[in-house]
Amino acid sequence: MRLMGFFVASFVLCSVIFSLSIVLRDPPSDAALREPSSLTPLFQITQTQQDLDNDASDSDELPKSKDALLGGLLSAGFDEKSCLSRYQSALYHKELSGKPSSYLISRLRKYEAQHKECGPYTESYNKTVEELRSGKFTESSACKYVVWISFSGLGNRILTLISAFLYALLTNRVLLVDPGVDMIDLFCEPFPDTSWFLPADFPLNAQFNNFSQKSDQCYGKMLKSNSVTNSTASSFVYLHILHDYDDHDKLFFCDEEQHFLQKVPWLMMKSDNYFIPSLFLMPSFEQELNDLFPNKETVFHFLVFDTDPGPFQHVLDQILACALKEKLLPDVNHQQDTINSSEIPKTKAVLMTSLNSGYFEKVRDMYWEYPTVTGEVVGVYQPSHEGYQQTQKQMHNQKAWAEMYLLSLTDVLVTSSWSTFGYVAQGLGGLKPWILYKPENRTAPDPPCRRAMSMEPCFHAPPFYDCKAKRGTDTGELVPYVRHCEDMSWGLKLVDSYSYK
Ligand SMILES: *[C@@H]1O[C@H](CO)[C@@H](O)[C@H](O)[C@H]1NC(C)=O
Ligand SMILES: *[C@@H]1O[C@H](CO)[C@@H](O)[C@H](O)[C@H]1NC(C)=O
Ligand SMILES: *[C@@H]1O[C@H](CO)[C@@H](O)[C@H](O)[C@H]1NC(C)=O
Ligand SMILES: *[C@@H]1O[C@H](CO)[C@@H](O)[C@H](O)[C@H]1NC(C)=O
Ligand SMILES: *[C@@H]1O[C@H](CO)[C@@H](O)[C@H](O)[C@H]1NC(C)=O
Repeated sequence: MRLMGFFVASFVLCSVIFSLSIVLRDPPSDAALREPSSLTPLFQITQTQQDLDNDASDSDELPKSKDALLGGLLSAGFDEKSCLSRYQSALYHKELSGKPSSYLISRLRKYEAQHKECGPYTESYNKTVEELRSGKFTESSACKYVVWISFSGLGNRILTLISAFLYALLTNRVLLVDPGVDMIDLFCEPFPDTSWFLPADFPLNAQFNNFSQKSDQCYGKMLKSNSVTNSTASSFVYLHILHDYDDHDKLFFCDEEQHFLQKVPWLMMKSDNYFIPSLFLMPSFEQELNDLFPNKETVFHFLVFDTDPGPFQHVLDQILACALKEKLLPDVNHQQDTINSSEIPKTKAVLMTSLNSGYFEKVRDMYWEYPTVTGEVVGVYQPSHEGYQQTQKQMHNQKAWAEMYLLSLTDVLVTSSWSTFGYVAQGLGGLKPWILYKPENRTAPDPPCRRAMSMEPCFHAPPFYDCKAKRGTDTGELVPYVRHCEDMSWGLKLVDSYSYK
């Protein structure tokens, strides 16, 4: 099977993630159950036709799981062979515990129907594109769109796609995806009988790279120049939701401005942030979000912070300190060569991902050279080490996506602060990771790590603005389910009620 992926946070240049898969001889029947990621269906790994032929040649029956449709999150309307990972992911992931709300499932089905109705080259799509070309349009057009522009590293792209999809769901729009250079090879089509990719002849394609805060259609710029009035009509608007966005761009998160945007048939969006937490602060979406996600933190089910990828002794020290202190891994016994035990030893498998192999080699050697104090056998694995980050390189992205997916299948996850790579793995796997604190001054922090409050990613660049009062405010203090992040004091993330302090 061909796997994929890539990452870069706007801030984060490299990352170390490791996680453990604890393999017990007799798996406990009450193994920790986890919430599914409600939006997991968007992200499945693609295969080539050749892989499919190879995989399917022996038998027509694909392995089945009790809950292949993930509690209804996945549509039953697909040919199973079109995307092996879609129906097989349930075989590898932990069982779902919390069920997605029935309202969420009905909204997903309704969205799929709407996407089929409005998708590329449908009558409605052709009509709306024609109106975009001519500049003459009716505000009541049957189909309105959010176009997600391919931008930034793979981890960020996954986080922003989820954000754009939820925004589309909340505003009854259809999400179309700019395929960029490698999106088509990375993800399966998520909606049946249609495509989520924007056709190559979409009239604005050539302008995507050009869209910026200086563009006349940039919403922030329109507000700045007071060109938005009740009678303004635009066939498209560019939304700039990047880390460098300004106070005018941030007004996107105000209900009042959404009234204007509602009328615009085409919203073009460029983002590199998981902006969902701020949608939860908008009164106009409150009821709908509450119905969709009674458990707030299921909206979306590591790191060395130096531009130099290391490896660094202080980071290795920190990783080991966290793993030993939190009893994720056993210590080794430097005095003894072997352990005498009649029992078959328990094994732990450790999967490490990092741009270089230095951390992996050191941890692996430690467990090769010495027995553990508990008698457990620890195996350490690293699938790839790319040396440095590369954007827009397909094989690099495929490896990164494969590693995020593998990490999501583990039992325990340890991540670096600020890592979008880690956010994707924890979100897909429904895992609450241990987060390594950001080292200051090249020394390992003490304590080395803490458990995350929730599995949700952190919004790194949230607005701090009270739309009603029209002044600055601490948006991490407004509602109990939107709090500041563990790994970034100014960031925002969703947490569930049982995490409220
Ligand atoms: C939409 O336009 C494309 C060509 O631009 C055409 O091939 C297609 O048949 C049209 N769809 C419908 C439903 O007319
Ligand atoms: C991009 O922007 C520049 C300057 O704003 C303009 O001259 C150029 O024509 C634009 N290119 C496209 C493809 O729109
Ligand atoms: C714009 O519309 C809103 C609501 O429809 C109304 O309250 C407001 O007075 C209008 N503003 C102007 C300048 O017409
Ligand atoms: C190790 O096991 C062997 C055989 O089971 C036994 O004879 C020996 O005494 C054990 N050594 C220790 C240190 O327990
Ligand atoms: C960083 O470490 C150096 C050398 O250990 C020390 O001189 C310096 O004061 C430290 N800086 C801070 C901000 O702690």
